[in-house]
Amino acid sequence: MGKIRILDKEFEKNIPFERIQEVIETMAVKIHEDYKNSRPLFLCVLNGAFMFAADLFKYYPGHCEISFIKLSSYAGTQTTGEVKTLIGLDKEIEGREVIILEDIVDSGITISHLAGDLSACKPKSVRIATLLLKPDALRKEVRLDYVGMEIPNDFIVGYGLDYNGFGRNFRDIYKITE
Ligand code: IMP
Ligand code: MG
Repeated sequence: MGKIRILDKEFEKNIPFERIQEVIETMAVKIHEDYKNSRPLFLCVLNGAFMFAADLFKYYPGHCEISFIKLSSYAGTQTTGEVKTLIGLDKEIEGREVIILEDIVDSGITISHLAGDLSACKPKSVRIATLLLKPDALRKEVRLDYVGMEIPNDFIVGYGLDYNGFGRNFRDIYKITE
């Protein structure tokens, strides 16, 4: 199945599931090399990162914890530039080594907003791991510690990413064709 339609838009297959898995496994091993002697707290940014976080967590070969935070900044295929916290932190992160798990960094507004908010909670450290990065869309200066893949500035869906709520369930990543 190379092409799909979601609501009013057409998408074509872009990154196959198998490639996504390879990238995530490599990232999990690399993160573990950096955190071998500690117990990091992964912080998954809902909704988009839920599949990425679930797979990365399974590939992570050491001791770790996971927690979830829900943010929203997108409407349709555009960022609104305003980040809303829909579900906040439920865990004490003071003194913890936190690794934020994001599906994609686009303008960078969401992630820089979150990293700023977290530092007020006095974690020992905060790093960012993102499955995808659109370098041409970046508008903020953010230090991304782990980047799975860089992609062009096209709107994508699948593997947790949505178009107005739909398309998250596809195991491959699709890009818009129009
Ligand atoms: P940023 O704040 O512009 O960096 O956008 C980050 C958030 O917007 C991500 O966490 C995604 O949930 C969403 N997003 C960005 N680009 C896309 C895309 O191409 N498809 C679906 N969601 C996206
Ligand atoms: Mg997201």
